[in-house]
Amino acid sequence: MTKAFDDLCESNTSPNPTFDDVLRAGISRRRFLGYAGAIVSLPTFATLAGCATDRAAPAPVIGFQPVPPSTADTLVVPPGYRAQVLYRWGDPVGVAAGMPAFRSDASGSAEEQALQAGMHHDAIEYFPLPAGAASSMRGLLAMNHEYTDDGLLHPDGMKTWTAEKVRKSQAAHGVSVVEVELAGAEWRVVRPSRYARRITGATPIAISGPAAGSELLKTAADPSGREVLGTLNNCAGGRTPWGTYLTCEENFNGYFSAATPSESERRYGIRKDGAGYRWDEHDARFDAATEPNEANRFGWVVEIDPYDPAAAPVKRTALGRFKHEGAMVTLARDGRVVVYSGDDERFEYIYKFVTRDRYDPANAAANRTLLDHGTLYVARFAADGGGEWIALEHGRNGLTAANGFADQAAVCVFARRAGDVVGATKMDRPEWIAVHPVTKEVYCTLTNNADRGKEKQPGPDAANPRPANIYGHIIRWREAGGDPAATRFAWDVFVLAGDKQHPDPAKRGNVKGDDFGCPDGLWFDARGVLWIQTDAAARAMASEDWRRIGNNQMLAADVTTGEIRRFLTGPRNCEVTGATMTPDGRTLFVNIQHPGEAPSERGDPEKPRQFSSWPDFDPAGRPRSATVAIRREDGGVVGS
Ligand code: FEO
Ligand code: CA
Ligand code: CA
Ligand code: CA
Repeated sequence: MTKAFDDLCESNTSPNPTFDDVLRAGISRRRFLGYAGAIVSLPTFATLAGCATDRAAPAPVIGFQPVPPSTADTLVVPPGYRAQVLYRWGDPVGVAAGMPAFRSDASGSAEEQALQAGMHHDAIEYFPLPAGAASSMRGLLAMNHEYTDDGLLHPDGMKTWTAEKVRKSQAAHGVSVVEVELAGAEWRVVRPSRYARRITGATPIAISGPAAGSELLKTAADPSGREVLGTLNNCAGGRTPWGTYLTCEENFNGYFSAATPSESERRYGIRKDGAGYRWDEHDARFDAATEPNEANRFGWVVEIDPYDPAAAPVKRTALGRFKHEGAMVTLARDGRVVVYSGDDERFEYIYKFVTRDRYDPANAAANRTLLDHGTLYVARFAADGGGEWIALEHGRNGLTAANGFADQAAVCVFARRAGDVVGATKMDRPEWIAVHPVTKEVYCTLTNNADRGKEKQPGPDAANPRPANIYGHIIRWREAGGDPAATRFAWDVFVLAGDKQHPDPAKRGNVKGDDFGCPDGLWFDARGVLWIQTDAAARAMASEDWRRIGNNQMLAADVTTGEIRRFLTGPRNCEVTGATMTPDGRTLFVNIQHPGEAPSERGDPEKPRQFSSWPDFDPAGRPRSATVAIRREDGGVVGS
């Protein structure tokens, strides 16, 4: 029926080159265009001048024994560690009004699903309780539920298709907030909890920032253009210094169907037959012919106050509309807030947003609107290892009415096209971005791009140096003067993922340590350990290219030495994604997404069960995404 979600084809047909600074760098085009299967040579980060940070990275101790690659249907952690399954798809969230138990045959109703964990956990953040404390014993976990496998969600999968199934699918999307506490060495979900909350594909959500109230966002159901129902395809996320959770809408295009897609719909991948959710068959707002502006109301960063279940989530349009993978927040030298975000599709861009105003820890009310005012930038990586952030501001850099941008609302809604106009660099699927807690160096996973170098597609460039980049890489940059608000940076490639024993030299990568492929989740802990999580597609893992790499996994990197060590392997055909720690560093929460993912079919309940029955191992049940709490048996700091 449908293709796997990784198949969503690239939609950046803009003519802008993958980078246009080749000549400025004084390097001949021949060197870059004559790749003929070879890897483009890389700039050297260490020799770049003018962008040094003023603090050296401390070397974090990575003390665990690495785990070997695995193809088993189980979760493996190093000796001396214990992993506890904490919160699975279908577990009650803990709302006092109702805590329906999971039905292992998937016969639960849409109403029950809206009171339970959604499907396909992704980003996760720990918020201590009480608010403002540093408790590592009690807190809130806010997490994303990215999408649904409707084959698993309903007893007969998608063999029949009804309005009730659409409602249940919408109820399995969104975000959970659950209260958790540590009792001895075990975590438990507190039920009921006054903080417990589900935000779904039908929850009212406010719209703020430059696009709020724009004609582009008005629909029949919402003539104000200021309130939308639901948040969808919540993938990676982030957190703010003022204690809110950021959840990011990624492949929103897949929910919409357009009989004859417009140019702007095509630019975001909205197609005639959607991506298989079939919501448009029972909910007209997902039929773009009926409601063409509804899709403009998705693809945003959404801010949620986890401490106040009555507070409406807010879509922050100033940060631009694209397939937001995440929203990594850091502070500029002068206290302004900087948010990094990748657009996860082949040949798409990396963005950052810098607020107009400064973060003030003493002014909670002012912080609530910080993300509504500022400048959105897009990245251009030059071949010489330099780079610049180009402002996506109406009236500048060609973003004028004459070029189809009537105002800043249009720049935000059509951020991809704005990136095309200013000549941003086409990347190999930007996923998570992480900022080193001390040096402020920024790391970004580029998960893969098998199409780079194919006929009619862009070839390799300095920042995306491999054709047929099946294993992906991690790029990093230093902002000028070590200031996240800077508009120039220096970059290099931190690591090319791969298999050292691969018969094709171009696929061997340069990993110092344990090999991996398709880096996706990326997160620095407080000690400066860079945690890498992988998301190879099921059909890739079934191929010879993954024979020595195995199931998706989580690794720890020492960015001072480049050493990378495998920490965890997931069950079969899962993705490992989302990571957060308690303030004491003694509990790591990780999400295991889509165990049993079928290589090509998401409508048949039997297919995933051929691969996985994690974590319940119930022959009559279904594989379930879940949050896992990981601790050392001696209670020590995780990873040290
Ligand atoms: Fe949902 Fe790009 O990962
Ligand atoms: Ca991801
Ligand atoms: Ca991914
Ligand atoms: Ca995923």
